[in-house]
Formats: sequence, C-alpha cells, structure tokens
Amino acid sequence: MSAKQTLLTGLQPSGDLHIGNYFGALKPFLDVYKDYQSFLMVADYHALTSVRDGAKLRQGIIDIVRTYLAVGVDPKDAVIFKQSLVQEHTELAWIFDCLVTVPFLQQAHAYKDKVAKGLEANAGLFTYPMLMAADILLYNADVVPVGEDQRQHIEYAREAAAKFNNAYGETFKEPKDMILKGVGVVPGTDGQKMSKSYGNTIPLFASKDVIAERVMSIVTDSSGDKPENVYAIHKLVRSETELEPIYKEYAGKYKALKETLIDDLDAFISPMRERYESITDEQVIAVIEEGSAKAREIAKSKMEAVRAVVGVA
Ligand code: ADP
Ligand code: TRP
Repeated sequence: MSAKQTLLTGLQPSGDLHIGNYFGALKPFLDVYKDYQSFLMVADYHALTSVRDGAKLRQGIIDIVRTYLAVGVDPKDAVIFKQSLVQEHTELAWIFDCLVTVPFLQQAHAYKDKVAKGLEANAGLFTYPMLMAADILLYNADVVPVGEDQRQHIEYAREAAAKFNNAYGETFKEPKDMILKGVGVVPGTDGQKMSKSYGNTIPLFASKDVIAERVMSIVTDSSGDKPENVYAIHKLVRSETELEPIYKEYAGKYKALKETLIDDLDAFISPMRERYESITDEQVIAVIEEGSAKAREIAKSKMEAVRAVVGVA
C-alpha cells in the first residue's frame, strides 16, 4: 500500500496546444504529479458532447497522450488511461444521474452558458458533471488538479459522493480541487490572452520557422524601451536576471529582441518537439492500453461494491 494520496485529472482531446496551455496547465501538473499516486485520464466520452468527427476524435486522443509524454509525463509515475476503455465510468454516471435532480444539474456553468447563448444543449452536456463525478470517485481521488473553469465540476463530484453516501452508506471519498497555479495569463502575439480561439498562439511544438513567423508578428507598443508583449513571453523561457542586460543593450531595438526571443523559444521547444515527433502512434496506444488495464482493475472492484449496495447485485 502506498502512503501517497491519489490524484486524478482528465483531459479533453482538443487539438494542438500552445505555450499558454503549457505554462498555465501542463507545467504545474508536471511539478506535482510525482508526489501522488497519479491518474491521467483522456475524457473521450466527455468530448463526444461536442465532437462529431470520428477520425478527428481518434487522432485527438492519440495526440493529447503524445503531448503529455513529450512534455515529460512518465507512464511509470502516472496511470494514463482512456475513459471509454473503462466501462464502469458510464455505468456509475447513470447511478449518479438517478440520485441528482434536474434543477441541480441546471446550475452547471457549461450547461447554463450554452443555453444563455440560445443554443440547444444535448443531454450528454446536461449530465456531464455526473460522468465527471464518476471519473473522480471511482478511484477515491483525494485531489483533482484543474483550471479555475473546472472548479464547479469538482463541487458536483463532492455533492454526488455526499448524496450517494447519504442514501447507501459511506462508499465514496469527497475529493478536493487543486486549482493549478500557473504563471498567470500568458499573452498571445496580439497582447490578448493566448487562446486557440483568437489565432494568436505560439504552438507548443512549433518548428523554428513557425516560431519566427509568430514572434515577428508580436504587436509591440512603440512607446517605451521594453516591448511588453515580447518580454512577457521571453521571461517564461529565460530568467529575468539574464534578460535585464539584454533588454538594456537592445533598448528600442525590437527586431533584435525578437530575434533573441526566437532563439530562446526554439531552445526551449525543440527538445519537446523532437520527442513529440519521435513517439509513434503504436507507442502511444501501448501506453493507453497498459494504463487502462490498471484503471479497469480499480474501477471494477469499486463498482462491485456499488452494485451491491444499490441492490442490483
Ligand atoms: P484555449 O483558451 O486555447 O482554448 P483552453 O481553454 O483549452 O485553452 O485551456 C486549457 C488549459 O490551459 C486551462 O487550464 C487554461 O487555464 C490553460 N490556459 C489556456 N490559455 C492560457 C493562457 N493564455 N495563459 C495561461 N494558461 C492558459
Ligand atoms: N471536464 C474537464 C475539462 O473539460 C475534463 C475532465 C473530465 C476531468 N473528467 C475529469 C478533469 C475528471 C478532472 C477530473 O477540462
């Protein structure tokens, strides 16, 4: 028995990541995951609430796991698995659906936002928080590292645990959220928050040419010596003590500063990019299958207890 606490987090396979995702989410995860018994789950059934393209989803699943391996997650230190390969998740989600009320689920931000935009939410999006509760509670997770936007979902998982325990006796542990403390908001090339929706990103595995093209497009303010948008990205990959003399020497010379940033970003990205390119689909699939077999064992024994107390077994 390991004395470590259990950590679980889930990832939606949602396209190529950028350096904002790295410094805001991946890096803080890398900093802590080895201190726990860690589970890293690809939330492919959650993704079905929005993705309608099978080939794209299949590739997205592989690419998100490849990304985690390339940035340094070691499969020996984390159980990397796929939600859909552990059927107990959808089974437990159904049981939770039967315990919670419609008005309770109507409070969920993801659902409310969709409705507020005048869009129709599918039933999967509506019950999304109960599938996420199942993901977390099956493994007795103590902590769930997520971005701020997911805080409410952890609260739903706690509620699901409490409601179940209240109805059937102590079965599930109430998890805590762990809001990842990243570096704050990484700005994009236009100075707004870097986001895939704004087309202002520097992709995490960009080639040197792409890095150069994106960095050259960074919007600089013509007043003042230090181009803030360049510096804000630069200090993520090189210490401020090292940067001070460089920014003094090249004060006002934006092109030279951008060229230095291109070299520093490339030095930072290229080892990860090379790893990303060298990991084959087959290697990724092997990691997923091995992790999913481990996850299944844990989920299976937990579900046996659940089926017994609810009375179907
Ligand atoms: P995007 O805005 O590109 O769609 P997501 O919403 O998918 O990014 O974010 C995934 C994770 O990356 C979240 O945990 C979020 O906090 C983090 N993240 C995204 N953009 C940034 C950014 N510009 N700065 C810091 N963290 C970010
Ligand atoms: N809902 C999360 C997101 O969109 C992904 C997720 C699914 C998750 N299941 C989870 C996160 C369990 C943490 C724990 O980012």
